[in-house]
Amino acid sequence: MSQKEQSTLAIIGQGYVGLPLAMAAVDAGWSVIGIDKDHFKVAQINSGSSPVEDVSDNKLQTAISRGTYRVTTDPASVGDASVITICVPTPLNDKREPELALLISATTVISPYISNETLIVSESTSYPGTLRDVIIPIVKSLKPSESSVLYFASAPERVNPGDRVWNQKNTPRLIGAIDGASRARALRFYESICDVAVSVSSPEVAEAAKLLENTFRLVNIALINEFTQLCSATGINVHEVIDAASSKPYGFMPFRPGVGVGGHCIPVDPLYLTWWARQHGCSAPLIESADSINQAMPGYVAERALKMIDPLNTNPKILIMGVAYKPGISDFRETPALELKNYLIAKGAIVAWHDPLVSTWEGSNSVDLNWDCDVAILATKQPDMKIDELVSKGIQVLDCTNSFSLNPGVTSI
Ligand SMILES: NC(=O)c1ccc[n+]([C@@H]2O[C@H](COP(=O)([O-])OP(=O)(O)OC[C@H]3O[C@@H](n4cnc5c(N)ncnc54)[C@H](O)[C@@H]3O)[C@@H](O)[C@H]2O)c1
Repeated sequence: MSQKEQSTLAIIGQGYVGLPLAMAAVDAGWSVIGIDKDHFKVAQINSGSSPVEDVSDNKLQTAISRGTYRVTTDPASVGDASVITICVPTPLNDKREPELALLISATTVISPYISNETLIVSESTSYPGTLRDVIIPIVKSLKPSESSVLYFASAPERVNPGDRVWNQKNTPRLIGAIDGASRARALRFYESICDVAVSVSSPEVAEAAKLLENTFRLVNIALINEFTQLCSATGINVHEVIDAASSKPYGFMPFRPGVGVGGHCIPVDPLYLTWWARQHGCSAPLIESADSINQAMPGYVAERALKMIDPLNTNPKILIMGVAYKPGISDFRETPALELKNYLIAKGAIVAWHDPLVSTWEGSNSVDLNWDCDVAILATKQPDMKIDELVSKGIQVLDCTNSFSLNPGVTSI
């Protein structure tokens, strides 16, 4: 391997994807430069405080003090790198369509500094064609003229924040490169940090596979969210049904109902797929229907909670427990708890929330479990959440997380 190949990795975006990747690469012997445009985040990381739960302060501080990791806002730092990975957000715009502005701006600011023989990898989730039709043209139009040989691949990140089992190392990584030389470089890079790198025939296959993975989850969650409403209306415990179906050893995979879907992936990525379908004169009605079902879940949960309250009480006090979109993390992007809160307030409820991992959300602070309420909705069960205390005080709980079984005072959705 040449000097150029094994020296330094630059990662654009130091969030839930970029920072764990940085630490995995440090563990694999890489010298890593984290680049992020957020000055506050860069200052926080430089002070040794990790902004993501999957990276401990100790791990970060060790990498910084050993000089194997540094973080900066300076995009020119990519000039020192032999591999650049782009890990910036790919959200939806107001029309719920792909918003690539951050991906485009990240590519634009680094391109003038990319040195010859660098491998550029997009790890951000996006529709098929993003590497070939969006990223590569920007790089080629802005790169230094002496950087005549560049390699490109798409390797969509599959990290599952808060997961104690699957991580950067043991989760197989898909790699779709634009040519054989790029594939060889990308495989060598990912094989240095992951146990398994799976090569596919093109970047578009890798990009499409990532959208399929998350759309599979969206559709199955929607199915079980629809099914739970049917079970509830007919007096059947949906969780008992799911457990029963799970006894089949093949052809079934359990999904659980909840307040909806949240985070930067499941509610977002399938809409990249539906948008991409429309660009090609196709439609994806199943995915659109699944999206609608999940979008309607906060309203369904709110109505269930309101039915637990004396109808004469027109301003009931309702506590939402857990506003992060899933347990074990503080990330509340796209959390369905927001629609739940807004729906309840529109119905006249006085709403407070409690989340041990989130201190401030939507301009208010987490209350403690002593907040006097008529009903508590368990939306996300965070570790160390003392829900038993609430139940023992006689507060009615609507459990959307399957945390209780047959507990008097607790209703399951
Ligand atoms: N969070 C997940 O669970 C997850 C899992 C798999 C894939 N992904 C995908 O990975 C990508 C990144 O997601 P994330 O959750 O890490 O986002 P994040 O918001 O946690 O982190 C992204 C970081 O990029 C920085 N950034 C934005 N624009 C930049 C720019 N122009 N230059 C430099 N830095 C910039 C932001 O300041 C932020 O710190 C997205 O495409 C997402 O869909 C996310």
